Amino acid sequence: MFCSSMNKGQFTAKGHIFVCVVNRPPSSEPSCGASGSGAIMDAIPMILLELGIENVRVNGCTCLGPCDSGTNLVIYPEGVFYTRVRRDNLRDLLESHFVQGEVFEALKV
Ligand code: FES
Repeated sequence: MFCSSMNKGQFTAKGHIFVCVVNRPPSSEPSCGASGSGAIMDAIPMILLELGIENVRVNGCTCLGPCDSGTNLVIYPEGVFYTRVRRDNLRDLLESHFVQGEVFEALKV
């Protein structure tokens, strides 16, 4: 199903990033939201733009599993799962994955 503001032919993303945005309270279990996944979500589009990377979609998602090592994200179509993503390693991750076409091994699960 497509959004009414989108034509079917426009769904041509070359990549899709899902960022865990679960946000549990500090007194609860660890979560990606508590570790800053909101800032990661906000930064991704700007970094993609700076790197000249087009047609990559970004969405928040629910828990991906290793909550205590968030922020966690997964990139499709490759299905590569990254963990311990921070604002200071995000650019290197995106550049490696989308510009160089190489998995960013330092953060790969
Ligand atoms: S809260 Fe993000 S992986 Fe569980």
